[in-house]
Amino acid sequence: MAEYEMILTEAQGRVGLVRLNRPKALNALNAALMKELMNALAVFDADEGVGAMVVTGDERAFAAGADIKEMVDASAVEMLARDNISVFDRIRTIKKPVIAAVSGYALGGGCELAMSCDMIVASESAKFGQPEINLGVIPGAGGTQRLTHAVGKAIAMEMVLNNRTLSAAEAEHYGLVNRVVPVERYLEEALELAAEIAARAPLAVQIGKQAVNQAFEASLTEGLAAERRMFYFLFASQDQKEGMQAFIEKRPPQWKGE
Ligand code: CAA
Repeated sequence: MAEYEMILTEAQGRVGLVRLNRPKALNALNAALMKELMNALAVFDADEGVGAMVVTGDERAFAAGADIKEMVDASAVEMLARDNISVFDRIRTIKKPVIAAVSGYALGGGCELAMSCDMIVASESAKFGQPEINLGVIPGAGGTQRLTHAVGKAIAMEMVLNNRTLSAAEAEHYGLVNRVVPVERYLEEALELAAEIAARAPLAVQIGKQAVNQAFEASLTEGLAAERRMFYFLFASQDQKEGMQAFIEKRPPQWKGE
């Protein structure tokens, strides 16, 4: 496995785990960390032994945002040339499911990173916010878009314009997170969820992720047409034959990922 300075990686069975590891900076997302994170996810994505991934920080902070110290003096032209934010977009190219296990602060880029993942398991201490307004800017890595899709316009406006922070319970109420669990359990819970998904028919999992994401890209008519194509496509897989045959024979299926 590659050597990293800002993250820790390990495989637990069929789950690839990435831990952000800049605790003194509350896992602030500098360019080097983001590069390592995306590299680690791409490596797990290409690994046939891995079926799903978990991204986490530590108990105090998932991530407190993009690294303010790295960009305080930058000009607009420098920001454009560095284009550090575009690395956030690469998470969309990951084919396998990615689950964020969030405890403590998920602020600014940290909230945006969590929202870029496919699911969020939160600890009771998690806090979600887009405090960029306090810095004289706005979210730049999806915070005005994904957040609005997730929690709706009213709450997104308050978060983006007035630094409203959501507690874990509020985030669950507004549909931003999948579930909230006690602090001692959040990582375990995310790993268990990832392991369950990683044990399912791999092709159908990847295509299912694509199909759900399609809902954010297209009109309902286009989305339904794409979904139907993907559904029919899965009838080219051995896993479809196996899954349906196993149902009829009343036995557990043996997935091949083919
Ligand atoms: N960037 C750089 N460093 C950060 C950071 C960030 N986003 N967040 C925290 N840190 C650093 C602090 O500077 C501090 O470092 P030093 O010990 O060297 O001073 C260390 O982490 C610990 O932080 P605090 O002492 O501030 O801890 P606290 O418990 O008093 O407060 C906090 C915690 C409320 C999260 C506070 O750190 C904070 O407000 N952080 C900034 C949050 C923020 O504004 N995030 C948005 C960033 S911009 C962005 O993300 C743009 C985008 O859309 C991509």
